[in-house]
Amino acid sequence: MKQHQQIELMKHMLTMIDSDSTEDAGQVVKNPTTSYVCTDLARQEWEHFFERHPQIIGLSADLPEKGSFMTSNDLGIPVLATRDSDGKFHAFVNACRHRGAVLTEAERGKQRRFACPFHAWTYSSDGSLLGIRAPQKFGNIDRKCHGLVELPSAEKYGLLVVHPQIDGNLDIDTLLGAELAEQFESWDFAAARYLGNSTLDRKLNWKIANDTFGENYHFDTLHGTRLNNLFYGDATAYDEYGRNHRMTLPSRYIDTLRDKPEPQWNVTDAGVLVYYVFPNTQIVLTNRIISVFRIYPSRTEVGRSTTQIAYYEAQHIGSAFADDIAPKLSGDNVYAADVSQRLEFNLETQRELIRSTLDEEDYYMGAKSQEAAASGKVDHFIFGRNEPALQHFHRSYREALDLAPLNAHL
Ligand code: FES
Ligand SMILES: [Fe+2]
Repeated sequence: MKQHQQIELMKHMLTMIDSDSTEDAGQVVKNPTTSYVCTDLARQEWEHFFERHPQIIGLSADLPEKGSFMTSNDLGIPVLATRDSDGKFHAFVNACRHRGAVLTEAERGKQRRFACPFHAWTYSSDGSLLGIRAPQKFGNIDRKCHGLVELPSAEKYGLLVVHPQIDGNLDIDTLLGAELAEQFESWDFAAARYLGNSTLDRKLNWKIANDTFGENYHFDTLHGTRLNNLFYGDATAYDEYGRNHRMTLPSRYIDTLRDKPEPQWNVTDAGVLVYYVFPNTQIVLTNRIISVFRIYPSRTEVGRSTTQIAYYEAQHIGSAFADDIAPKLSGDNVYAADVSQRLEFNLETQRELIRSTLDEEDYYMGAKSQEAAASGKVDHFIFGRNEPALQHFHRSYREALDLAPLNAHL
């Protein structure tokens, strides 16, 4: 993000804090609770958003070297993603061409070739079939025609994107739009380093899990004794980019900027940027750390979802002033941090924030919303004027499925 855009954004957040105001969606809307429990809708969502839509599967840092690989089963098909010996990113169906055995069940690692555990056919990291065992007994196979089944894939702006359909269309610039692509390029995600991951499998529809990221109206209530110490809640800046959006949440450290010269202002010192990329990804930028959340519906339970979280070190994100050394935060003291000093996050603090805020508070509450929706007794939820990101997400996915727009709450 250009410095003048960052300064504009920080001034906007300071104005909202000073005037006790926030972004205004212009209307209150009703969201039918059936959208969280309808199995027919869940089937449509799966087809449109997960089977037939490009998917971010991680950042370039997930495949840091030639020969790096990772696997996933989030898309209903086993995927083996590799970086080949030329450095090119590929995504394959993780299934041997002989009789479909999974080539590796390791989550990630580094290897130049994959030997099938069933009958030991071997494949290179570019997918080609290198050899079959005992060909004189097995019979003739044209190796050139029996490489791994490849899915469309692309790597750009530090994102790894896959299309789950073999003939699917994948263009990262179209997915992001020019403005968001420019921002992602400026953040240089490719310079990040993979730190670790975690998974939350919880009893809430994937859209309720996604809703957790869509408003900060709840900060001083639900997070009153924890995260609220670090961030201003209901003063969140909101920007839309087609079906994607960005929320910028000011940290309490933003107040110290009032006394600093503007050239020293840095938006990731002053807050957290939460980029939502349609349909299911949240990319969260904090000082020194990028966290990527990918939320997937359960295939069997409409009221259940899995959130895959990956953490990346990003030393290039955050202030670069040598005289402005941030105190070391740990998981134990993160909520008691001195907000007059810059907050620099790390893997330990992120894991703690996920455990005690996202899981114990946000998803806990989300599971209660799920129960209310499932009861059939509460026919709609309400999205306020101060919840534009929630309104946008639900409006976008409804448009994509040709569903009626949300009604105003009169
Ligand atoms: S299934 Fe892989 S070698 Fe037979
Ligand atoms: Fe929250």
